Amino acid sequence: RISELHAVEILDSRARPTLAVTLTTGDGRRIRAGVPSGASTGTREAVELRDGDRARYGGQGVSTAVGHVNAEISRALTGRDFASAADIDQALIELDGTGTKSRLGANAVIGVSLAVWRAEAAGAGQPLWRHLAEVAGTVPRLPVPHFNVVNGGAHAANDLDFQEFMLAPLGAPSLPEAVRAGAEVYARLKARLAADGHTTGLGDEGGFAPAIDRPEDVLHLLVEAITDAGYTPGRDGVAIALDPAASEFRLPDGLYRVAGEALSSDDLIDRYEAIIDRFPVWSIEDALAEDDWHGWVRLTERLGDRVQVMGDDIFVTNPVIIQEAISKKIGNSALIKVNQIGTVTETLDAMRICRAAGYTQMISHRSGETEDTFIADLAVGTGCGQLKSGAPARGERVAKYNRLIEIADTGPSLPFGLAGH
Ligand code: PGA
Ligand code: ZN
Repeated sequence: RISELHAVEILDSRARPTLAVTLTTGDGRRIRAGVPSGASTGTREAVELRDGDRARYGGQGVSTAVGHVNAEISRALTGRDFASAADIDQALIELDGTGTKSRLGANAVIGVSLAVWRAEAAGAGQPLWRHLAEVAGTVPRLPVPHFNVVNGGAHAANDLDFQEFMLAPLGAPSLPEAVRAGAEVYARLKARLAADGHTTGLGDEGGFAPAIDRPEDVLHLLVEAITDAGYTPGRDGVAIALDPAASEFRLPDGLYRVAGEALSSDDLIDRYEAIIDRFPVWSIEDALAEDDWHGWVRLTERLGDRVQVMGDDIFVTNPVIIQEAISKKIGNSALIKVNQIGTVTETLDAMRICRAAGYTQMISHRSGETEDTFIADLAVGTGCGQLKSGAPARGERVAKYNRLIEIADTGPSLPFGLAGH
């Protein structure tokens, strides 16, 4: 039972407004949640509500969404008895009524949903991860952190078309050792970049943003940094995961623009194949654009046995879209972002569909973040084995990794690593 619901406009990690929601429970507990926000968003994501008033925050204000929480949503949810957090999510979906959460705003809805689930866990006297595992019927597991250490695309001002280059310490014996590997390689990478005369300024997710445009040149540097730090490049040590976010560099003519070259879908798949042959890349997210479904079928046929072929902008954590993609044999893995779909219940639905089809899943932050750590508990509770939350630097990124360390340190001994591998 919710006795009070209150939202306020706060800042995210990119100096843009977002919502913090405070929920007061019937027994006086105060629970908070912060709402993330993306930059390279999928067109079919649940709709984030921005004021559009250019006189405030360049139109990016969220006072309308805040107003919806404080008035309409609050009126609908407070003082009423709901059987579960899932029932409240259902009430939110019905109250919004649009299917895309565009009326109340997906940012307003997810803020309330996160707070509600956290309150339900607190009410049950459980850590959030354990409560999520009980509701989802999953076996908790500490995920492999995927550290985004070089930023390009929509997340940095450099000419690098691929958006994310991640370190995946798949071979680490434990979560703390995986975090250590990420931080140590990050430090060696910084030293190498500086020695080569590159800037060590950071992009939105805390990775370096050097003026390098060829993805292969970045991969080469990463392998060197992994070796410098004393780790083995590859699945037994530190592997690499990519998120090119290809929707962002596909031109209206249907060609992909990579480091000045114009590539067809098949050319780009060839390029990925050459990359996999040469570098220890184990996972590629959004290798092709969200509307290039034919390309995705060929991509999955050609590379699906060698790497994790993960959909983000193409799937947008939407159970209906994921189901359709599974039936068309598109991808073998899904990136999961709570604000892409707008409620925790629908997020868990999307993950259940993936599990049933044998698709792996990775829980993800957004490029605009708050200090909220809900997604760390979500990754542990659902046992999916993978989490990406940016670099091992910047408070809003590190908060999630530090929450994993806290869970590993204070909870029962949980298994660590990829699920089902
Ligand atoms: P976004 O990027 O949060 O800016 O959408 C993250 C991603 O593409 O995975
Ligand atoms: Zn992505």
